[in-house]
Amino acid sequence: MEKFRINGQIPLKGEVKISGAKNAAVAIIPAVILSDGICRIDNIPNINDVTLMAHILEQMGATVKMINKSTFEIDARNISSHIANYDSVRHMRASSYLLGALLGRFHKASVSLPGGCDFGVRPIDQHLKGFSALGATHSVEGGLVNVSTEKLVGDTVYMDVVSVGATINIILASVKAEGTTIIENAAKEPHIVDLANFLNSMGAEISGAGTDSIKIKGVNYLNGTNYSIIPDQIEAGTYMVAAAATGGNVLIKNVIPKHLESITAKLQEIGVTVDEYDESVRVSVNGPLSKCNIKTMPHPGFPTDMQPQIAALLSIVNGTSIINESVWDNRFRYTDELNRMGSKISVDGKIAVIEGVKELVGTSVKALDLRAGAAMIIAGLAASGTTFIEEIQHIERGYENIVDKLVSLGADIKKIYSPEKDNIPKAL
Ligand code: EPZ
Repeated sequence: MEKFRINGQIPLKGEVKISGAKNAAVAIIPAVILSDGICRIDNIPNINDVTLMAHILEQMGATVKMINKSTFEIDARNISSHIANYDSVRHMRASSYLLGALLGRFHKASVSLPGGCDFGVRPIDQHLKGFSALGATHSVEGGLVNVSTEKLVGDTVYMDVVSVGATINIILASVKAEGTTIIENAAKEPHIVDLANFLNSMGAEISGAGTDSIKIKGVNYLNGTNYSIIPDQIEAGTYMVAAAATGGNVLIKNVIPKHLESITAKLQEIGVTVDEYDESVRVSVNGPLSKCNIKTMPHPGFPTDMQPQIAALLSIVNGTSIINESVWDNRFRYTDELNRMGSKISVDGKIAVIEGVKELVGTSVKALDLRAGAAMIIAGLAASGTTFIEEIQHIERGYENIVDKLVSLGADIKKIYSPEKDNIPKAL
């Protein structure tokens, strides 16, 4: 078994370069299915979710050339099947994007029900509502979601909940539909804008991405393109919080500061210094840090994908903070792990009350999901003693080279294998 071992309480110092956005990459790669040409995509993060998505396309008949570690050239014109019934599909939530992309191309799609991080029920009713507005019917059989129609015709779709995945899927299904589709109450996340920009670079006619009303005028043909993915907002936010939690001073490069506004605002409220530059932010701690209340919300609100990481920081500031998780039903399971390191967090439904403590103390904890795992790393970096983090495969799904990046900032973190289990101090 692989684990991370962290010896904590070393302030992070130096510079770190942020990779391309995971959640943009896992939407843009399946979007290539809609292209009538070859797509060269730069700034692809080298992470397991992306490798898996590229592999799924290859299994379906696409050619994926890795030009270098962050550039893929994908030719999906040879895909002839509308079925993505592979074991790997089930393990990634973003595989649901294959539904929209295959429906958009073949007017039918069959894809295994999506998996991904487990933090409560993850329905796809809004995705299906969108497909049905475009004329498609659906059924669920043997774990497969099937959608099909004779032809896709644009219409107005009102989303009952703001859903990133449903917004992306409806864009994918409608980009080559007849007529105009309007998505009302659309999600506004940066990766939705990135997907729209990618599709527009191929000749799509999408306007309003980044607002709550997105208009898609269907086109018949999409060229190949050269496109570079935006930097990862959540990876950047994770390093910002890690710098703050260790009392460090870190320049976080290759970011879009506008995408980080809600994270920056909350860090400043806590007492952290954040200096913004054109494509970087510097995070430093120059005084005491104190409590802050946070409610997660769809963009431009505070991202739910930063909630566990900021909770780790709030565990060691002065005073009692309250986090209200308004996006997911069950995204506080990791707090039991943080409490094992000495934090004082009590959870009631979607509310967590965090009483700041003087310090956390290293022990063995689990990465219950991707961002929960990032929170364990932040806690371990800030804690006294040694922290061992198990189930790191969740973390490696979404953070490129996290160990190397942290080591370059001075952290004492190492990936170890089970034989080193014997090195766990007896006190554990
Ligand atoms: C995306 O998931 C992200 N994943 C998640 O990030 C992120 O937590 C989430 O958006 C919210 O920002 C990817 O982009 C691959 P949603 P998604 O549809 O699209 C409800 C990470 O850590 N809902 O916006 O699955 C749903 O239950 C990952 O990088 C419906 O009710 O999220 C939830 O409460 C984890 N019906 C809320 O909407 C639907 O049909 C938001 O979900 C769809 C969603």
